Amino acid sequence: MTDTVDAVAADRALKARHRAMWGLGDYPSVARDLIPELGRVLVAATGVRRGDRVLDVAAGTGNAAVPAALTGAEVVASDLTPELFAAGREAAALAGTELTWEEADAEALPYPDASFDVVLSCVGVMFAPHHQRAADELVRVCRPGGRIGLVSWTPEGFVGEMFRTMKPYAPPPPPGAQPPPLWGDEEHVRGLLGDRVTDVVARRQSVTVSGYASPEAWRDSWKQVYGPTIATYRNVGDDPERVAALDRDLAALAARYDRGSGTTVLEWEYLLLTARRA
Ligand SMILES: C[S@@+](CC[C@H](N)C(=O)[O-])C[C@H]1O[C@@H](n2cnc3c(N)ncnc32)[C@H](O)[C@@H]1O
Repeated sequence: MTDTVDAVAADRALKARHRAMWGLGDYPSVARDLIPELGRVLVAATGVRRGDRVLDVAAGTGNAAVPAALTGAEVVASDLTPELFAAGREAAALAGTELTWEEADAEALPYPDASFDVVLSCVGVMFAPHHQRAADELVRVCRPGGRIGLVSWTPEGFVGEMFRTMKPYAPPPPPGAQPPPLWGDEEHVRGLLGDRVTDVVARRQSVTVSGYASPEAWRDSWKQVYGPTIATYRNVGDDPERVAALDRDLAALAARYDRGSGTTVLEWEYLLLTARRA
């Protein structure tokens, strides 16, 4: 009994830390300026249409939820970090659409079984620390015959490598937490969803990220806007040598991926996976 109470309290504390982390910096600018294409790709791949009841899990500012609502679907955008919803509401109003915003942990969704026709997550559910719990929730709230669609950064792509680069500088992950980019591994996701889904289609694609004068300019911007990177810098903040080493490692990573001539152009690989609920 005490163990259960302790486990619940530890999970609450972990989620509170994650919520605070995603509220750091300026995630809305990342979704708006760097990766808006991903939400549209996911909505198209899952064939969202007028009349569908759609859940976007770990929706952030509605990168997938807003284009889903623009089809005429009835959309709920849920996220652990409700601080992101104000920017999402603005984006939806600007696009001329409406949807519902609800605070929710992807590992304990507050919705009945089979309550959505389509369940989406765009580089979102991958950040819930317990993969099987989160996958079970995606499956549970999707009706039989409904669609599940996921976009996840791959372990071998730029963002997967960025997390590996930051790991030695970041606080140790809590026991039982799994690395987010594993959701970009097709076999891992097939294992999580199991025989509760059919018609799995997975392909690797990439989104082009540009507009930086140099790899260092990307790094300097990224350490201002992206919560996990800001948290990593904070973890080594009182050690100037470690900060300088992290600076060097992130710039070197961007330099290695840079395909631009004159400015920095990066390809960020992701796995687009769709499936049907059995
Ligand atoms: C990289 S952002 C992606 C947001 C959005 N889907 C997009 O495409 O821009 C990751 C999101 O996952 C959310 N998140 C992290 N852990 C979560 C959890 N356990 N439950 C629900 N959302 C979570 C964060 O709050 C954040 O909004």
